[in-house]
Parts: sequence; C-alpha cells; structure tokens
Amino acid sequence: MKLPDIKILDEKNKILRTKSNEVTFPLTKETRKTIEDAITYLTMSQIKKYYEKYNLRPGMGLSFIQLGIPKNIFVIVEEVDEEKFENYIIINPKMISHSEELIYVGEGEGCLSVNREVIGIVPRYARMTISYQDMDGNKKEIRVREDISVAFQHEMDHLNGILFIDKIDKNNPFKDKEKMREI
Ligand code: NI
Repeated sequence: MKLPDIKILDEKNKILRTKSNEVTFPLTKETRKTIEDAITYLTMSQIKKYYEKYNLRPGMGLSFIQLGIPKNIFVIVEEVDEEKFENYIIINPKMISHSEELIYVGEGEGCLSVNREVIGIVPRYARMTISYQDMDGNKKEIRVREDISVAFQHEMDHLNGILFIDKIDKNNPFKDKEKMREI
C-alpha cells in the first residue's frame, strides 16, 4: 500500500471549527479520491508494518474538515478481525434516534487532530440510528452501537466544528461517571 499524501489539521487550526456543508451529487472525482485516500490512510494507520514504517498514529475515523474540506463527509475504518477491515463512508449524516443510555470510552477518546493525551469523560449515546447518503447519493439508514456509535458521534461532532476535548469538563473530567457505562 502507498501512503496517501494527505495533511491532517491540528486542533489549533481554526478551520476545524468550521461547520461543514451539505454535499451535492454526483460527487466530484476529487471528492471520491479524498474518500479513497482517507480510507487508505486509516487502514495503514492500523497495520503495524505501516504505522511503524511511517510513524503514524492509529486512528479509525476521519472527517473531511480534518483535511481542510468543509463537506459533510466522514469515513470510519474498523478492524473487524486481524488486519481485516470494514469501511463506513458516511455523507450528509442526520441523527434519527438515540438511546437514553450513555457510555464513554474508559481510556479516553482519541483524534488524529489532537496530538496529546486528554483524559476525561466524553458522554456518548450507547446506540443510535442515523440517515445518510452513500457515494452514489442513495438515502440510507444505519443503526450503530458501542464503540462504533462513539466513533460516529465523534465524527458527526467534527462536521459541526466540535472536538471531543470540548466535551470534557476541565474542572472535573470524570463528572457524572456513575451515570454512564464505561466501554
Ligand atoms: Ni477526531
């Protein structure tokens, strides 16, 4: 695999605070290429041979805004088995419904735009259903749960200019811990 030439914006970059725009169809060649590059990058970042060689931080999600493009698109690459991956390409996502139950990632969420460790609780819905469009503009729905639900909410926040660190109470990073389930 060849490492795509993409540049991920750092948290200090104000562009990350931009609210992204609805995507129209058909997708441009350039948009399709960026989707492909993001998936390749995330996949390589989760394979030892590549993350060691290129000194990559492992990541499973990337939004277009992190590449400086304010479009409502994100991709998620999930390792479902050893070096076997499943991709989600999500365009124009909208929340339809979500669980009452909240969860949080015990070891803390990570983000390819946040190059430091941040501790604390980011409350997320344990399950949710969203509508979105696929690469051909077809309207779809998907129900996600647990870590994938967290990943989807993390990326949907990016599309609204929100970073996970914004959601942690600085004075009390583990506030309301007992009201949520750790995953
Ligand atoms: Ni992120």
